[in-house]
Amino acid sequence: APSETDMRNIISEHLQLEGALLPILYALQEVYGHIPEAATPLIADALNISRAEVHGVISFYHDFREVPAGRHVVKICRAEACQAMGATPLAEAALARLGVEWHGTTRNGAVTIEPVYCLGLCACGPAAMVDGKVLGRVDETRMEKLLAEAGA
Ligand code: FES
Repeated sequence: APSETDMRNIISEHLQLEGALLPILYALQEVYGHIPEAATPLIADALNISRAEVHGVISFYHDFREVPAGRHVVKICRAEACQAMGATPLAEAALARLGVEWHGTTRNGAVTIEPVYCLGLCACGPAAMVDGKVLGRVDETRMEKLLAEAGA
């Protein structure tokens, strides 16, 4: 489990910043891959806000994870140009294949799937991103291959 001392240190490093909550959350996520549950009361105390406020911000920003991600993160573009190229059925097939909802992680911990809104590859949609690598023209066959390679 994350050490309380380490989390307190990370929090205090960012306390002097304006709007310290977001930098604190990003820093914690950078270190732990998600925001440990035990960090919420520490952040609330440090910033003198309620735990509910901290939790509200964590759940509002989809950048933050409350649980660790899978070994691979697959993002599918859901913005307009990709939708016109069939991103919606592509995404539905991928979610069904993995048996999870958006932001979910497969039971074996292999893949986390997330929506993303434009990857700058609008001319060759549907676009996807696997572990930070952007891919164009991802049809269902290719997606199936990507998921299988990721161990899903
Ligand atoms: Fe999908 Fe731009 S709309 S990459």
